[in-house]
Amino acid sequence: MWDEDEVDVFTFTLNKGGVAKSTLAVNVAHKLALMDRRVLLFDADPQGSAATLLGFDPCDSSVKVLRMAAVGAVHPLRGRHEPTDRHELDDTAAGLSQEQATAVQNALIHTGRHGLDLLAGSAELRAFEREMLERRVRPRELAERLRPVFAPYDAVVIDTHPGYFLQELAILLATRIVLPVATEFLVLREVRETLAIVEALGCQATPRVVTPTLYRAGMNESEANYDLLRQSFAQQLTPVVPYSEAVKQCPSYGETLWESDQVRQSATGRAAQAAIEALVVQWLLPGVEEVLFGVGSGE
Ligand SMILES: Nc1ncnc2c1ncn2[C@@H]1O[C@H](COP(=O)(O)OP(=O)(O)OP(=O)(O)O)[C@@H](O)[C@H]1O
Ligand SMILES: [Mg+2]
Repeated sequence: MWDEDEVDVFTFTLNKGGVAKSTLAVNVAHKLALMDRRVLLFDADPQGSAATLLGFDPCDSSVKVLRMAAVGAVHPLRGRHEPTDRHELDDTAAGLSQEQATAVQNALIHTGRHGLDLLAGSAELRAFEREMLERRVRPRELAERLRPVFAPYDAVVIDTHPGYFLQELAILLATRIVLPVATEFLVLREVRETLAIVEALGCQATPRVVTPTLYRAGMNESEANYDLLRQSFAQQLTPVVPYSEAVKQCPSYGETLWESDQVRQSATGRAAQAAIEALVVQWLLPGVEEVLFGVGSGE
């Protein structure tokens, strides 16, 4: 029987573009794999950046799995507010049929990195999102149907784009949420907006952490915005990820931060690695509640 406590699902989301959501998601996923976790990187963003960042072309693999999961969730005659029928979900919650398991296997990209599988995104996700809205499928229902796909993994990392259906789906699936926040420009409003969506969905994920990104020491805008984040989200703020030219170059080589010599050789690159490592070890892995709320907390 499916036990939702078994799989960590880390969703990277913010209602703002260009804040390093994909960069963090991919590098957290690879870091977890390097720590011997079996990891699925699930790209729910039509831009397909997760694939590009790992050196692959965007393709329809995540949408194939989503369509497979949606098959039983599409009820053309259902009204928008009709409650979910629990019995309808029981069979799928227990596991995948042989046919579904094969469909998932065929869609998965084995990235060549030990322990890291990818379901890549593509523009087709936009059509899927429209279709789900037209057919009045609820993200919550699809989330239930998708969970068995995650069962073989220790951790699933989801990259998102701001939008209605897929972003909500990713939030509903999450056990922990990361809000990457670029310090280059002011995004407090977007952080609050995104947290309000998380609340409105009744999402149980904790913690919901804020990760400052693209930080440039000595630059007024960056420092002022970082201060604002510290004042507003002190209890959930993870170490700052600095701006690094070496990190910016990684996508052109299809390398993660853990594979790049340039990153290793640059001070800001190593600082970015350290911040992401701290995010993983101190905030995302099980036991963080004790760190946060137990003796010695209160940073
Ligand atoms: N620490 C960093 N230092 C320098 N550049 C970075 C860093 N992190 C991310 N970038 C660059 O910033 C840009 C935006 O990053 P990314 O694509 O991860 O953001 P995103 O929030 O996923 O964007 P989108 O909303 O388009 O999906 C990219 O060019 C990326 O290479
Ligand atoms: Mg992205």
